[in-house]
Amino acid sequence: MKSAVVLISGRGSNMQALVESAPGLDFRAVLSNRPEAAGLAWAAGRGLATRVVDHKAHASREAFDAALAAAIDAFSPDYVFLAGFMRILTPGFIDRFPNAILNIHPSLLPSFPGLHTHERALEAGVRLHGATVHFVTPALDHGPIVVQAAVPVLDADTPDTLAARVLAQEHRIYPQAARWLAQGRVTVTPAGVVRVSGSGVSTDWAISPRDPS
Ligand code: GRF
Repeated sequence: MKSAVVLISGRGSNMQALVESAPGLDFRAVLSNRPEAAGLAWAAGRGLATRVVDHKAHASREAFDAALAAAIDAFSPDYVFLAGFMRILTPGFIDRFPNAILNIHPSLLPSFPGLHTHERALEAGVRLHGATVHFVTPALDHGPIVVQAAVPVLDADTPDTLAARVLAQEHRIYPQAARWLAQGRVTVTPAGVVRVSGSGVSTDWAISPRDPS
């Protein structure tokens, strides 16, 4: 069985979706850079090991990443899932776990990398928005894409209503990607494109119902 750890910074709803909906993975620990992250209590309640590597306790990004890498290495995971983990990782850290770090990002990458994706999608007037699961590379929010889900942007949307519609899809596609990894079906081509064996497409459209008008 493939193993994994999950990195969080906050409420950890994507972490919960992974743990509950990807039973084929051995989740060995949940790590947070914030001691107050609400998701830690949920993980501990599920009997998972939890660790805090507080970024504020480290003088540099490199020192934090070295401590984080050591904490991860103690669990020898096959995969590291970033789930609302709000720290930019150094290239040195990412190179230690080649094709093994995954992230969920709340936009249809390559559109809207970075923060405040829902506000920016509304400002741009896009009619489709969504979420992306991708492998992590040193380029922020730009690694090989495993799966995406799209949702409509409705005229009445606020950043909060749009975020909620996207989050429901995040909770669906991140466990989907984890199950594919657990089944050994995911490869990355030399050109950096993900192939999922046994499925015709590796893009998963999910359009939630439109309003009646
Ligand atoms: C999610 O929308 C994730 O995509 C983004 O931050 C949010 C974290 O939510 N990076 P949670 O902690 O998983 O509930």
